[in-house]
Amino acid sequence: MCGIVGFVGKRNATPLLIEGLKRLEYRGYDSAGVAVLSVSGMAIAKTKGKVSALDAELANHPIEGTAGIAHTRWATHGAPEQRNAHPHRVGQIALVHNGIIENYAALKMEMIERGASFLSDTDTEVMSQWLHDRCAQGVSFAEAFGMMLPLLHGAYAIVALHEDEPDTLYVARKGSPMVVGTNDAQECWVGSDMLALAGYATQGYYLADGEYAILQPSTMRFFAADHTPIQVTMQSMNVGAEIHDKQGFAHFMLKEIHEQPDVIRKTLSHYYDHETQSVHFEGLTLDPTTISSITMVACGTSFYAAQVASYWFEQITHIPVRIDIASEYRYRHPIVPKDSAALFISQSGETADTLAAMRYAKEHGAHTIALVNVPTSTMAREADSVIRTLAGAEIGVASTKAFVAQLTTLAALVLYFGGARSTLSSEETAHLMHHLSGVAEQTQQVLDEKMHYDRLALALMYARDMLFIGRGTSYPLANEGALKMKELSYIHAEGYAAGELKHGPIALVDDGVPIIVIAPDDALFDKSASNLEETAARKGNIVLISSKERVANFHGNVTHSVAVPACHPFVAPILYAVPLQLLSYYVALHKGADIDQPRNLAKSVTVE
Ligand code: AGP
Repeated sequence: MCGIVGFVGKRNATPLLIEGLKRLEYRGYDSAGVAVLSVSGMAIAKTKGKVSALDAELANHPIEGTAGIAHTRWATHGAPEQRNAHPHRVGQIALVHNGIIENYAALKMEMIERGASFLSDTDTEVMSQWLHDRCAQGVSFAEAFGMMLPLLHGAYAIVALHEDEPDTLYVARKGSPMVVGTNDAQECWVGSDMLALAGYATQGYYLADGEYAILQPSTMRFFAADHTPIQVTMQSMNVGAEIHDKQGFAHFMLKEIHEQPDVIRKTLSHYYDHETQSVHFEGLTLDPTTISSITMVACGTSFYAAQVASYWFEQITHIPVRIDIASEYRYRHPIVPKDSAALFISQSGETADTLAAMRYAKEHGAHTIALVNVPTSTMAREADSVIRTLAGAEIGVASTKAFVAQLTTLAALVLYFGGARSTLSSEETAHLMHHLSGVAEQTQQVLDEKMHYDRLALALMYARDMLFIGRGTSYPLANEGALKMKELSYIHAEGYAAGELKHGPIALVDDGVPIIVIAPDDALFDKSASNLEETAARKGNIVLISSKERVANFHGNVTHSVAVPACHPFVAPILYAVPLQLLSYYVALHKGADIDQPRNLAKSVTVE
């Protein structure tokens, strides 16, 4: 997903914009650029590759100005080339954009017919050309900017500059997030998310869909989609710059893996009252006794959290559950049952597919619940109920602490629903909460023994393919473990239900294909053990991840085994996520992959 930063004030914008881009690098990108305005006019620099390449270009050819816009591009239309990098300048106008203009081809044709010649293959340049064309007809830039927005179909977060207005930013948002910030120095900031403004802006406002703004150091004007002026309430922004510090860890991902014990503790202390031994969800405006079914929808890692929770909900609350990946959900034209709740899980709260699915469910009468890590996100603003995960800002593109926070929050939510629907006695709730409370320490024990995964990674790093298998709630974990391995080490990996292997995938097994068997000490262990033997009998290279006791007493044919502290089966998915994160981290590390910004990936995918 693209990154956007804008600034207008009295200081030189260039270094501030570059610092802002560096904070957005985690989103994933392939080119970067900056445009600044001063009384002597507009200057622009763009490069293919990383922000460091842009920085080097600016060191050789410095540009200055007190207003500016900057962008990291995650290519949607047009290859990751310098000419497709943003900002896109046409005449006196420069513009950066995050999103997709779905009707750009028609607009481009119209501009070409009016004599425009395009320099790039992007949808974004269409907007610069359109604005330039209108201004050439004598329309003011402010008026042209407002006129253009209703013509754009699709998603956009835009910041634009005009050379004749060196103290003004033009900002608009539909579908892709955009935050406006300010501070006591009367500086105006804009960014794709608060992380870009951390430590600079002290107050912020996320533009709502369709809104736009004209920002100057002295005055900030906001407008609704119909161009009527609106008053907005700026919220204090308490995101400090320290979140951009690896705090001694080699990567943000490793730092965030190590934050997990505290994330679990923080989550449980927020949602569980030890005094009254009760679970409470202040953001939930739904009576659990009134729903007949639950649908859970998400993408990627968040979907695997939903998959784990689907087992918990049905087993503990006896509510029928359906799960779906967001990109399929609404195109399936699902029947949204009467009196149903629809739970949407998202770390960013901005994933386009999940947001669109939530809007579909809401339109069709479901009570929508957003379980998100960013409380100011679009999903949080639009859902009927909001449940926050308390992982804190997650910088690594591969989700780790957010996943563990999702599982911990969902586990507490299931206990809440079970208690409310009397499918769980208060003693049973206290019993399961006791085991949940133990996971933080057990996770710390896994982290204290992380060298096992470092060594195991050396044995697996040259694999061509990997299979991750598990039963019950270990099956979604197998999916998540495979996703982590794919997105971090670029090794092809598949997650499979262990019992499904013999129905075809076992044909893949030979001594070159490691099979990671996720088998907590639960009622399904023996079944998993026989699946393990089935693959071992075919020269499978077996890695068993189980409890210390099971590993010590297992006499089957395993090539490697890793012991995890004993835990209650209910909490196993939370604890067993950590070995899978560490394994993929160390394989990627030994392979020299780009761990915090894996190739082709974005932290939050705000395009469909
Ligand atoms: C997770 O490691 C991946 N980077 C990706 O699958 C992610 O979980 C997915 O894009 C959903 O993001 P969200 O939770 O912000 O909606």
